[in-house]
Amino acid sequence: MANGQTIGKLALAAATHHTGKPNRMRPRTMKVSRFGQKLAVQSGIGQLMDDLGTRACEGRDVLMLGGGNPAHVPQVEQYFRRRMEHVLADGDTFEGIVGNYDPPAGNAEFLEAMAALLRRHYRWDIGPENIALTNGSQILFFTLFNLFAGDYEDGTIKKVLFPLIPEYIGYCDVGLAPDLFIANKPQIEHLENRLFKYHIDFDSLKIPDEVGAVCVSRPTNPTGNVLTQGELQKLSDLAMAKGVPLIVDNAYGTPFPNIVFTDAEPLWNENTILCMSLSKLGLPGVRTGIVIARREVVDMVARVNAVMSLAPGGVGPALITDLVRSGEIARIGREIIRPFYERKAGQTLEQIRRYFKEVDYHVHQPEGAFFVWMWFPNLPITSRQLYERLKQRSVIIVPGHYFFPGLKDPWPHANECIRVNYAQDEKIVTPGIQAIAEEVGRARHGG
Ligand SMILES: Cc1ncc(COP(=O)(O)O)c(C=O)c1O
Repeated sequence: MANGQTIGKLALAAATHHTGKPNRMRPRTMKVSRFGQKLAVQSGIGQLMDDLGTRACEGRDVLMLGGGNPAHVPQVEQYFRRRMEHVLADGDTFEGIVGNYDPPAGNAEFLEAMAALLRRHYRWDIGPENIALTNGSQILFFTLFNLFAGDYEDGTIKKVLFPLIPEYIGYCDVGLAPDLFIANKPQIEHLENRLFKYHIDFDSLKIPDEVGAVCVSRPTNPTGNVLTQGELQKLSDLAMAKGVPLIVDNAYGTPFPNIVFTDAEPLWNENTILCMSLSKLGLPGVRTGIVIARREVVDMVARVNAVMSLAPGGVGPALITDLVRSGEIARIGREIIRPFYERKAGQTLEQIRRYFKEVDYHVHQPEGAFFVWMWFPNLPITSRQLYERLKQRSVIIVPGHYFFPGLKDPWPHANECIRVNYAQDEKIVTPGIQAIAEEVGRARHGG
């Protein structure tokens, strides 16, 4: 679209002339740049956030199994409430937090506490200079992907490699350059009871010269997969040998929020960029992302922060610095958050087995995060059509095709899967699963 893209007829403020007479000229449609065409059009993540706001089913009761909202875990919420009460009660603390900008890398006390926690837990050789904060981790991926991929000064165009798809929907639209991603299809291991697990296909995985960074989420959104320790180490070795960073998205991982049901440990070395977030702890509203990396990467992220938003917000760090300093945050993850979600994953599988008795399906082994990834081989309708049918019944899921960034050749599998968020109350999840089973059954019988 060489002439720019129309973003709708906006009622411009200049509706009347300074004469006070009505202006009979109609405001013209606005045109936008390539940047606007890339970011300001409807994207997968945009549709998801719209549906989260339930615009999809206005006026009706919605069974919200889409989106990435975490559960409200009362025991965890109490910690945040108490800490906020303390902040409000204590002298100048509140005014200090909301009345000052933090430095571009984020609140110094939090960075110090976080570095100490990681040193204690994992014996990593890091200090506060290896950590920066961002306004949520989503903007961090925008920053990292466009730092390491896109146009280079020597004329080359680099890409981000996803060594295993399906991968997180939020990555799909953050590239400023076109076609920023390449991806490798997984191996599929079938397990008992209709479960399956994706593995990185190392036989076909290559890191070609056009790759500027490799990225995985672990636990993976949308599938709940947790790459094995061996897979992660092998990936790290490959990236290190090639001289490109390995970006590991640890939004659901350890030491917090610890929505991990296996014995997975995170990995860090000077070639790894580990990304974390306070969102899945139960604080998506404070928008705090965390990057742990070698100093030069952290410095670049801080400089981008200064340009894009001056500084990361200080409310998130203020709420949890004490918990990080004391190590309590890791205990909360281990003793409250992990068991809470593990129980919910088990209940959700039970409901799936109950309602899908007569309907052909597979489900990815839930190993972490709070989604089930359902696969309906040879479904006569696409997962997008299934999403539309469910939306008619006020049930919101996310169709699978959004989770295949970088997939070049058509792969029917991408249209046969859906993501279901099971973090919400059973009163929402159970009837939602029942409705999905009914719609899949109807589609299988030609309805
Ligand atoms: C895997 C993964 N990474 C990153 C994010 C972004 O989270 P936030 O920007 O709230 O930190 C999400 C949110 O759903 C996610 O699931």
